[in-house]
Amino acid sequence: MAVFWSNFIYLLITLSLTANDADSTKYEPNWASIDSRPLPLWYDEGKIGIFIHWGVFSVPSYGSEWFWYHWQGPQPFPSVVDFMKKNYKPDFTYADFAKEFSVQEGLFNPDHWAEIFNASGARYIVQVTKHHEGFTSWPSKYSFNWNAMDVGPKRDLVGEVSAAIHKYPNLRYGIYHSLFEWFNPLYLQDSRNNFKTQDFVFDKTLPELYELVNTYKPDIVWSDGCNGPDDYWNSTHFLAWLYNESPVKDTVVTNDRWGNSALCHHGGFLTCKDHYNPGTLQKRKFENAMKLDGKSWGFRRDTKLEDVISIEKLLQNIAQTISCNGNILINVGPTKDGTIAPIYEERLRQMGSWLGVNGEAVYKSRPWTFQNDTVTSNVWYTQREDLKAVYAFLFTWPSGNLTLGAPQATEQTMISLLGYPEALGFSSQGPQGIIVHTPNIPFSKMPCQWMWVLKITNPAN
Ligand SMILES: *[C@@H]1O[C@H](CO)[C@@H](O)[C@H](O)[C@H]1NC(C)=O
Ligand SMILES: *[C@@H]1O[C@H](CO)[C@@H](O)[C@H](O)[C@H]1NC(C)=O
Ligand SMILES: *[C@@H]1O[C@H](CO)[C@@H](O)[C@H](O)[C@H]1NC(C)=O
Ligand SMILES: *[C@@H]1O[C@H](CO)[C@@H](O)[C@H](O)[C@H]1NC(C)=O
Repeated sequence: MAVFWSNFIYLLITLSLTANDADSTKYEPNWASIDSRPLPLWYDEGKIGIFIHWGVFSVPSYGSEWFWYHWQGPQPFPSVVDFMKKNYKPDFTYADFAKEFSVQEGLFNPDHWAEIFNASGARYIVQVTKHHEGFTSWPSKYSFNWNAMDVGPKRDLVGEVSAAIHKYPNLRYGIYHSLFEWFNPLYLQDSRNNFKTQDFVFDKTLPELYELVNTYKPDIVWSDGCNGPDDYWNSTHFLAWLYNESPVKDTVVTNDRWGNSALCHHGGFLTCKDHYNPGTLQKRKFENAMKLDGKSWGFRRDTKLEDVISIEKLLQNIAQTISCNGNILINVGPTKDGTIAPIYEERLRQMGSWLGVNGEAVYKSRPWTFQNDTVTSNVWYTQREDLKAVYAFLFTWPSGNLTLGAPQATEQTMISLLGYPEALGFSSQGPQGIIVHTPNIPFSKMPCQWMWVLKITNPAN
């Protein structure tokens, strides 16, 4: 009965979402109305995205993508100041780095990026088109002499990457855009005026956003740098346009970084803070933005092997996040030449090989009644209502009897290991759960090398 009702409710939700995709609801420029828009289904179903941090900060590639601010901001980092003193002439400016943003022919190949991203099993890409440094990776009319066509690469990096991504039917393309800029005089002036003036917003931020959406038609607008009140950014006004009239009004998703008080409350999916992985079921769709290099979003030459996340930890992050109603956005920072370092390529391809075996438990899954097991730790769950199945993600290889306290067996229950042909034996413990008798599989015959997934069909709950 429970299974029947949950399927029925799922069908209703699916129908209402689908209906809404094509429907002509008009959204008003206020949060109640903006928040009422259902997220297009593709986003929840896709689960995994790749974040690309690539900009002028990729040239010094030292410390982090906050290099400029840590060098010349109000509270300089001694390590960064020292790095500049030792390696550059005293009159060298941050803008001079743009000349070295070489993106050389023969090194940068957006088709190769797209091939790696597709092979990773990710379903969408979010490219940084402008970080807090203000440099636009597309030839913006509103960023004179501080864009990728006028200086540095002399090409449209947003156009090239988005075109390469669009060749893969599995991948959607999205943009990241920083509302504020550390050192923009107009922004600093508005800020000094306690955000009572909006010159920066009307001359820079909003024109850029409209230009990006109209030119590249991204399926994600990932806003950041929302330092200032929501009203200052005119966010709800832009979002109402995005949802009602823009060329991507039916497919686009956005996040929550649209102003100081929107963060973690309003917009589309919630990102709250970086690496947001709450560990408990969230009512509202969220996204865990995390990175392969634990210490920087941008590529840096001072990364140590120990800073790079292991494939085991990455997969564990995925399981925990999706069990709790999240998507995960995994960051990689390309070099100034436009290459992806082999260590990051390896992680992404490892993830893809794992998803090739276990994707059934990830894509199109929904959170289950339980997020993790009640008895055994490091076991996380998802469900597929369409397949009448619950999936248990096991962080460690089970040997002997594995007790699962959360699922209860029915007469119809079967248990299998994804990628392994034979059904697994188990004994029902009634309301106490299930004891799974795990097979003695030699390492070479295991369906995958990290994080194994049990499929439990027709459970009682
Ligand atoms: C994209 O990746 C999928 C696996 O997720 C693979 O089946 C497909 O062949 C790839 N497409 C191309 C064009 O390489
Ligand atoms: C800013 O928002 C106000 C109120 O929603 C609206 O009237 C105005 O046209 C907006 N301006 C721009 C440039 O978006
Ligand atoms: C399940 O996850 C919660 C929240 O992260 C944690 O507090 C709890 O200890 C976990 N349960 C087990 C059995 O490890
Ligand atoms: C596993 O469980 C079965 C049935 O519950 C039991 O007969 C068997 O002794 C257990 N094996 C181990 C190694 O505990």
